[in-house]
Amino acid sequence: MSTRTTPFPRTAVLGAGSMGFAIIQGLLAAGAAEVSATCASSQRAELLRSRADNGLNVVPVEEHPDANRRVVADAELVVVAVKPKYVPAVLADIADVLPAGATVISVAAGITVSQLHEAVPGHGVIRAMPNTPALVGRGVTGVVLPDDLDEATKRLAREVVATLGAVVEIREEQIDALSAVSGSGPAYFYLFVEQLTEAARRLGFDEPTARRLVEDTFIGSAVLLEKGEASPQELRRQVTSPGGTTMEAVAVFETGAWADLAERAYQAAIEKARRLV
Ligand SMILES: NC(=O)c1ccc[n+]([C@@H]2O[C@H](COP(=O)([O-])OP(=O)(O)OC[C@H]3O[C@@H](n4cnc5c(N)ncnc54)[C@H](OP(=O)(O)O)[C@@H]3O)[C@@H](O)[C@H]2O)c1
Repeated sequence: MSTRTTPFPRTAVLGAGSMGFAIIQGLLAAGAAEVSATCASSQRAELLRSRADNGLNVVPVEEHPDANRRVVADAELVVVAVKPKYVPAVLADIADVLPAGATVISVAAGITVSQLHEAVPGHGVIRAMPNTPALVGRGVTGVVLPDDLDEATKRLAREVVATLGAVVEIREEQIDALSAVSGSGPAYFYLFVEQLTEAARRLGFDEPTARRLVEDTFIGSAVLLEKGEASPQELRRQVTSPGGTTMEAVAVFETGAWADLAERAYQAAIEKARRLV
């Protein structure tokens, strides 16, 4: 819930897809009253209007080729959430109508602070890297707050990304590593859930039962972890009696050299991110 004493500024979200809509939902839930958004298609615009019932103004590019220019024209905050390949064109399109003093937050992977500065000179720019649990307000977002921002703008940026869940402030050179850990992280988690569910099925459980057993084990374990009363090591120790069955299973998992595997997986994501720039 927002602790703002002043209203959220007029905000334009360019590209109300998965992440853009998560941001819109977060802003509206935190009390933002004046949010406009763009998307490419009329179909997406209809869906957005039906999902956001508190007066979200959605302008699709399909109907209004100048949609992005329209919504930023009176915006104090602009969130750029189109796919990275569209960011240069979208920023070039809006640069001359962006009001003086408007701040730009980009969630686009691989688009650097200096690229943002070049595209919208004279404006405060922020880079943020959320992850998909942001869709339910439980994401973790890495945010880069360049030194040239004033304190009020930094505070605003922190408040905006906090509507998506937890916030971690990072230096820009850490963003690829953050993306490898938390940006892509939900995929690793779901992969593990899929594999354990498949293995449970091979033990003879039907699909709904296997899913229930695995998914509720993850969710319940995550809630215990979130309570913060014990470390992951301690929680694991509580299940792993010396000489017991869990110990046998954990020993088998450890033959997979997980620490090494995790590091190699992170490195692969980081190297790919560097090749994309
Ligand atoms: N998804 C993630 O896990 C994640 C995590 C971190 C960062 N991000 C970043 O978030 C951004 C969006 O990713 P996403 O997964 O949300 O993609 P997405 O669901 O495809 O959303 C992109 C949206 O942009 C709209 N769009 C396309 N061209 C446009 C234009 N010229 N003007 C305005 N809107 C336009 C699309 O409209 P239509 O729907 O009508 O085609 C779509 O709704 C990317 O830059 C990505 O790097 C995503």
